[in-house]
Amino acid sequence: MRPLAPQDLDAVAAIDAELGGRARRAYFERRLCSAQRAPEQHLQLAADRDGALAGYMLGRALEGEFGRSEPALRLEAFGVKREAQGRGLGAALSREFESAARRAGASEIRTTAVWREHALLRFLDHAGYRLADSHLLDCALAGSNLTTADDDPEIFVLEGHDVEGVARVDRRLTGRDRRGYLCRTIREALADSAVRMSLAARVDGGVAGYLMARLDYGDFGRVEPAAVIDTVGVDPLRARQGIGRALLSQLFVNLRGLGVERVETVVAPDALDLMAFFVRAGFRPSERLSFLKRLA
Ligand SMILES: CC(C)(COP(=O)(O)OP(=O)(O)OC[C@H]1O[C@@H](n2cnc3c(N)ncnc32)[C@H](O)[C@@H]1OP(=O)(O)O)[C@@H](O)C(=O)NCCC(=O)NCCS
Repeated sequence: MRPLAPQDLDAVAAIDAELGGRARRAYFERRLCSAQRAPEQHLQLAADRDGALAGYMLGRALEGEFGRSEPALRLEAFGVKREAQGRGLGAALSREFESAARRAGASEIRTTAVWREHALLRFLDHAGYRLADSHLLDCALAGSNLTTADDDPEIFVLEGHDVEGVARVDRRLTGRDRRGYLCRTIREALADSAVRMSLAARVDGGVAGYLMARLDYGDFGRVEPAAVIDTVGVDPLRARQGIGRALLSQLFVNLRGLGVERVETVVAPDALDLMAFFVRAGFRPSERLSFLKRLA
């Protein structure tokens, strides 16, 4: 067991292609590169057998996504090559992943899987995951009837100096100061719009709402490009004025331009306002389920 290195890329991509029946080299290249750039946000393990890579497990730190405050790690991709399967390598990777997550201060590991992926579900079950209480919703862009309208508020792409306005609204909603998280997220979107988008609505010269989404080209075994909305909020003083809908409509326009076909989000069980909002916009329960493992 050792940390994954950039020179493992070919072997990881080959194992993934063997298991999934399609090539996703670019996805793994991006993940390995971002781990080089920001090692503190990634946990990437390799398992060798007979001197060659036989398995891998990739995770990323979750910060304030979906309004969360607890430090958590997201398990995003793993695989053991077919000829090495059935000998405990997956379980060993999973144990090592947990120990490393604990050492890094994470209190839980989260992941998702489509309910039809039976082998994967069995693996997560054995590894001690349980169903998380959050709801995964998604929406196919092709089936959406959201459109932008002339009387929508002004929607703009967030820049670094907008963070104060966003943090002010966010504080009203969450009761927490999340400037650090919001600032990093805005910066990530500015640095690479192929990976992240962050939008805001302006009313009377001030930020009245924001929406942030991460573009995803392969996490959890996905093959179609998808976007995941991980942060959304509208100033409570301006709720129910169509600001949330306008933000979502503009996001959909931008995503269509990028060829993204599906948008997902995660809603906490008690966030009934968000649930109502997303369902009104055409979101429905996803075929994907959300799993969680608490680290004692
Ligand atoms: C959910 C939220 C984004 C909605 O924003 P909004 O600007 O008030 O929503 P809109 O006015 O655009 O409403 C769009 C649709 O959703 C519906 N909707 C919105 N909030 C709703 C609620 N609480 N209950 C029922 N329906 C609701 C509206 O009725 C409207 O439906 P319609 O198109 O059929 O008329 C906003 O209330 C919010 O920010 N909530 C807190 C989220 C949060 O905690 N974020 C921080 C952590 S990430």
